[in-house]
Amino acid sequence: MSHGNEQIFNPAERVAKISHCSSMEQYKQMYDKSLKDPEAFWGDIAKNFHFEQNVTGKFMDYNFDISKGKIFIRWMEGAKTNICYNCLDRHVLAGKGDQVAFYWEGNDPADAEVVTYGELLKEVCRVANVLKAKGVAKGDRVAIYMPMIKELVVAMLAVARIGAVHSIVFGGYSADSLADRMLDAQASVLITADAVWRGAKLIALKEIADDALKVCQAKNVKVKMSLVVQHMKNVTAPQASSNGTANGNPSKKTHFDDKVGWNSGLDVWWHEAVKDVSSDCPPEWMDTEDPLFMLYTSGSTGKPKGVLHTVGGYMLYAATTFKYTFDYHPDDVYFCTADIGWITGHTYVTYGPMLNNATSVLFEGVPTYPHIGRFWEIIKKYKVSKFYTAPTAIRALMKFGDEPVKKYDISSLSVLGSVGEPINPEAWMWYYQIVGDSNVSIADTFWQTETGGHVITPLPGATPTKPGSACFPFFGVEVALLDDEGKEVKGEGEGYLVFRRPWPGIMRTVYGNHERFETTYFKKFPGFYCTGDGARRDKDGYIWVTGRIDDMLNVSGHLLSTAQVESALVEHPAVAESAVVARPHAVKGECLYCYVTLAEGNDFTEKLIVELRNKVRTKIGAFATPDYMQLAPGLPKTRSGKIMRRVLRKVAVGDRDFGDISTLADPSIVEVLFQHRPKEGKV
Ligand code: PRX
Repeated sequence: MSHGNEQIFNPAERVAKISHCSSMEQYKQMYDKSLKDPEAFWGDIAKNFHFEQNVTGKFMDYNFDISKGKIFIRWMEGAKTNICYNCLDRHVLAGKGDQVAFYWEGNDPADAEVVTYGELLKEVCRVANVLKAKGVAKGDRVAIYMPMIKELVVAMLAVARIGAVHSIVFGGYSADSLADRMLDAQASVLITADAVWRGAKLIALKEIADDALKVCQAKNVKVKMSLVVQHMKNVTAPQASSNGTANGNPSKKTHFDDKVGWNSGLDVWWHEAVKDVSSDCPPEWMDTEDPLFMLYTSGSTGKPKGVLHTVGGYMLYAATTFKYTFDYHPDDVYFCTADIGWITGHTYVTYGPMLNNATSVLFEGVPTYPHIGRFWEIIKKYKVSKFYTAPTAIRALMKFGDEPVKKYDISSLSVLGSVGEPINPEAWMWYYQIVGDSNVSIADTFWQTETGGHVITPLPGATPTKPGSACFPFFGVEVALLDDEGKEVKGEGEGYLVFRRPWPGIMRTVYGNHERFETTYFKKFPGFYCTGDGARRDKDGYIWVTGRIDDMLNVSGHLLSTAQVESALVEHPAVAESAVVARPHAVKGECLYCYVTLAEGNDFTEKLIVELRNKVRTKIGAFATPDYMQLAPGLPKTRSGKIMRRVLRKVAVGDRDFGDISTLADPSIVEVLFQHRPKEGKV
């Protein structure tokens, strides 16, 4: 990305005027306090929440230095709380039970629903009681594989209420991916739905979940129940079916029950299960360091890591980042477009907003269905004031020009957030000028599944922003840049982006594999948490995250490891070896460019290419479908056998400037690879 545009944009005045943090002086003062006296800083914040028991031990304790022993992070030792209680009961008891928690907006604009905090509390208690009756207890893992419907929020909060651990798997993952995650977590219950329309496409969730359950069964992992939401009968089928013919009746509900396979020993309809169940369920009081959820993220070995977050610190951090980054006020309507299946949805669709008693839009659909103005139409409909989306969505919508945005009165917007990947200055400017009418504050929020919440971000009432920079650390976060030797780069410069101490929301371990946690994040630079990203600090101290410096790539804001895709490809019998690299992509940010070396006797046919793409879709999910597939008669390897990926990245973009290749065992392979490049636009 370019760093050319260093124009500074001051906070929108209407935001600054009422902001929780309305100047850089205030930010600096709060930031300094958060580092000098974390106990006082976070202790004050904790007073806004319900703790059944207060801290009895150290407020914060940790070791970040692997050379001194085991890595650990603990916040608020001895305190007891429940995050579900703080998201629901606390507000209902304060008389806010009738307040809208979510405006649910379906895939089809004809489908919409409103749900209040009071209604959610009752439904959460019912589902919590259903889980308890099935024997789900504190510490048990519950897998969730659902569309963006209110039952997903209910499910996660019900699990949290009884002290179990939710493991949500994004509804775009394949059966194999769901099974891998359920096996790793040893999940005893699965919560899913019959199916969902995503745009004009039908995703048969239960069918996929059933395939995953078969894998679990074959591996002797006992799943006690598959709780199924009957969703399809309540929603409108797409106006044009997937074969492109209009069905002529937009209000038609989808009849789907007859298509759902049923396993009577295992499957339970949600609506039947909750029917005669009490809407009262006392929360389980949890130690602050008890697990709250795990969420899998890609790992460079190809095996996903179960990132584990705990109750107390995550709660404080989700709530506080939401309040300050979006400068949330009670009359706001907030809309985060992320799926709850990703960390952004966990923290900024469910927990952050609900802990703040916010009113949000929960959107089931996609930005371009049934038309390309869907986001703007929703913003107008609910008078959304705070909006949070990903650069890939901004770039995709930018392509259609300004007119689809201008058609709607979206002047209610005052803060626009961005997340998931570096935002290029062009997209930033379009977001600011066209979506925000140059009268908003933009928050480019840098964070990770592992960090639990924003760690580098502007504050919309305080920070003068530069397009493409995530600006400054959030409260409690101490940033450092290190060079290859681990020496700190002070002032202007570039290096590995690391953090010197824990903030409350940082992950605590990799589920079932603490050693992997230590190795992945703490081994390279003892004393620091290593993000895996590179960053530059400019002369004014602004942080510019430049992207991953490991074998991860970021497709439409979703992290994938090259190893994960390679292992899917080599499962095909025709493939002897494969190497996958990232190639820049105008909308997705990055896309997958795959090199495959074929086993003797195979031809690189169109049919094989289709099979290989499908292989990746079934092993991982449709969002990981490769954009480019190239035949590689050989791969560029050093004499010790290591693939020189930078050469592959150059070939992928047609750039012959690949630097020193003298260490390659066979330098002539580079020219051969060039000759096999697929034609542009052809996979
Ligand atoms: O490379 C960074 C990029 O996304 C990675 C984290 O991905 P994930 O755990 O899936 O979480 C995404 C949502 C928080 C980071 O290591 N990334 C995320 N936000 C930004 C970003 N890169 C640059 N700027 C951002 N604002």
